[in-house]
Amino acid sequence: MYKNFLHGKRESVFLSTTESTNNELKKMIYKSEAPLFSSVSAETQLCGRGRLGRSFFSPSGGLYFSFSLPLRGDEKNIPFITLLAGLSVMEAVRELTGTDILIKWPNDIYYEGRKLGGILCELVSGRCLTAVVGTGLNLTLMKDEIPQELKDKMTSFVIEGIKLPDKKELMGRIIENTDKYIYEYNELFSVRDETMQKLRECSYSIGKKVKYTLGDTVLEGIVTDIKKTGAAEILLSDGTKKEIFCGEIV
Ligand code: BTN
Repeated sequence: MYKNFLHGKRESVFLSTTESTNNELKKMIYKSEAPLFSSVSAETQLCGRGRLGRSFFSPSGGLYFSFSLPLRGDEKNIPFITLLAGLSVMEAVRELTGTDILIKWPNDIYYEGRKLGGILCELVSGRCLTAVVGTGLNLTLMKDEIPQELKDKMTSFVIEGIKLPDKKELMGRIIENTDKYIYEYNELFSVRDETMQKLRECSYSIGKKVKYTLGDTVLEGIVTDIKKTGAAEILLSDGTKKEIFCGEIV
């Protein structure tokens, strides 16, 4: 393990392996070992985590990292932070590879209808409210390495023929972009119309017929918009519109 200052004032820790970079960074924040702006990345994760208690397959060759950001607001802001982090990943991938990826609301990174990665955003109350934003991207994963149950759902840069970016450069760009958007968010406590427009343009979900599940609630409809609150708006079959903040759409 070694430390350096990679992104301006952000202190970065690189690990060969860890349970989960989100867990590692949260532990450091709880123990006050991490400066306000920190990042942790790992070559592999033993228990990579996704939303809704799911696991995130993290073999060697992928990009797995988490970084911290002081945040204005509370847990209500999580959907929005997640979307802004998704937009930041999309822009970084576009800048470095020339390929446009999409964001399936609220946190999946998609390409050609398959999952290329994901974002897990969590809040920690340390010296101040801090968002821990974890990103995982499948870079060099080959078809035969994908677990059987994920074969139709998962993909990677190599499988799709997307140019492989330098991992550190990609991580740096994603962090820089997210810093910029969260700074804007913290300042305005809202999002510019221009940023909303970008979010809509990279949405995989808008226009799709979906089934929404949260606990016992199951709804079917069409995603019509992403709102300034971070909610997805669904037009239900009875003609009413519903805004959803958590749960899953398929
Ligand atoms: C999801 O698929 O629901 C989100 C996946 C997020 C994975 C990243 S990898 C780096 C960070 N550490 C984790 O344990 N999870 C996130």
